[in-house]
Amino acid sequence: MAARVFRSSLMLETMPKPNAHPEIDLDRVPRHIAIIMDGNGRWALERGLERNAGHREGIESVREVIRAGRDYGIEVLTLYAFSIENWSRPKSEVAELMRLLEEYLESELAEVMENRGRVRSIGRLDRLPPSTRRAVENAVRETEGNDGMQIVFALSYGGRTEIVDAARRLARDAELGKVDPETLDEKGFVAYLYAPDLPDPDLLIRTGCEQRVSNFLLWQIAYSEIHLSGCMWPEFRRSEFETAILDFQRRERRFGLTSAQIRAGADETAGR
Ligand code: IPE
Ligand code: IPE
Ligand code: MG
Repeated sequence: MAARVFRSSLMLETMPKPNAHPEIDLDRVPRHIAIIMDGNGRWALERGLERNAGHREGIESVREVIRAGRDYGIEVLTLYAFSIENWSRPKSEVAELMRLLEEYLESELAEVMENRGRVRSIGRLDRLPPSTRRAVENAVRETEGNDGMQIVFALSYGGRTEIVDAARRLARDAELGKVDPETLDEKGFVAYLYAPDLPDPDLLIRTGCEQRVSNFLLWQIAYSEIHLSGCMWPEFRRSEFETAILDFQRRERRFGLTSAQIRAGADETAGR
């Protein structure tokens, strides 16, 4: 209930927007959208540029998608910015990605603050270069009290790592007698993940033509709807974001039930 109240107050301020897509049902936008921002390198190579030029252009998509997410009253936007596997890329590419992240966080902070956005991060931040880590921690700290859209950067993130990190802390607590393995359930396990308070993503978007999850939010995407975009990330802008929301709104989320059960549930909610 609290979440719904929060969302409607958020929407009152941001909606209705005169430039909202006419076919998007503003009452049924996903609460949480998670994005695998892929294809920067190919976008650049196709244009005869070096891969890092794609990463730089991709920043503009990040800006635009964050603005669009805010306009549509999305509560949480999780962006896969750097995977644990990405550490194995060439040093110069890793360095440029870290530099861009730092620069982005510093230059965008004012706009995020203005819109009461809250920056968060998930992943093994201890592996980031000190200055990048400081920029992330600073953005998180500065925006901590804000009640607008939560922008979660997955950095040095791996889904399996997250689960192992959770299992390790859980095992320690079990040893200390703080949790009872016999009664542990899914909710109890979630408490050990990186951001246990966030709702699971309703919609998972992957750009760049690939059809895989690449170790992203393995636990949380159990029932996410998946939208695969043929766009390379630097080409993914507001209208592609709207296309993904429209695609989401055409889906029937059944969570293991039958269509008839889902329809009956909807009728009940509508008081029929
Ligand atoms: C996504 O684009 C950005 C990161 C993984 C950091 P890529 O760099 O993976 O681009 P492609 O997939 O090689 O085109
Ligand atoms: C996934 O993209 C990671 C991010 C978008 C940060 P990758 O380009 O690293 O994924 P693979 O290697 O194609 O699976
Ligand atoms: Mg890629």
